[in-house]
Amino acid sequence: MKFLFINGVNLNMTGVREKGVYGSQSLEEINADIKAHFPQDTCEFYQSNYEGDICTKLHTADCDGIILNAGAFTHYSYAIRDAIAAIKIPVIEVHMSNVFRRESFRHESVISEVCAGTIVGFGKNSYILAAQSFKL
Ligand code: DQA
Repeated sequence: MKFLFINGVNLNMTGVREKGVYGSQSLEEINADIKAHFPQDTCEFYQSNYEGDICTKLHTADCDGIILNAGAFTHYSYAIRDAIAAIKIPVIEVHMSNVFRRESFRHESVISEVCAGTIVGFGKNSYILAAQSFKL
C-alpha cells in the first residue's frame, strides 16, 4: 500500500518541545520507526507549519490512505476540514498525546467528522496503528 503521513504545525519540534508529552525522539526518528513497521509498503512523510500547504498536500495526494496529525490545526482549521472532505482518499486523524486528558480546547476536533477514524494517546504508535488499520 501507499501511505502518506502528514504532520502539521509544530510537529517538527517533536523531541525538543514538551518532551513529557511528546517524548524525546525527533520527528525524523519517529518516521524511521514507522517506516520499519511497513517494509512492504511505500511511506511518504510530509510536515508543514502552514495550513494552506497542508490543504494543497491533501488535494494532490496520490496514495491509498492518509494518516494526519494536524497538531493544533485540528482544533480550529475549517480549511483543513474542507480539504479532507474534498478528496476521496480516506484520512485517519491521529494524535500522539491523549488530547482528552489535556486542556479543554484540545477536546474539540473540527476534522474528526470528515475522517475515517481517530486514534489518540499512543505516542508514535498512534501513527502505526492508524496505518495498520488500512490493511485490515
Ligand atoms: C497533538 C495534540 C494537539 O492538541 C497539539 O496542538 C499538537 C500535537 C498530538 O499529537 O498529541 O501539536 O496533535
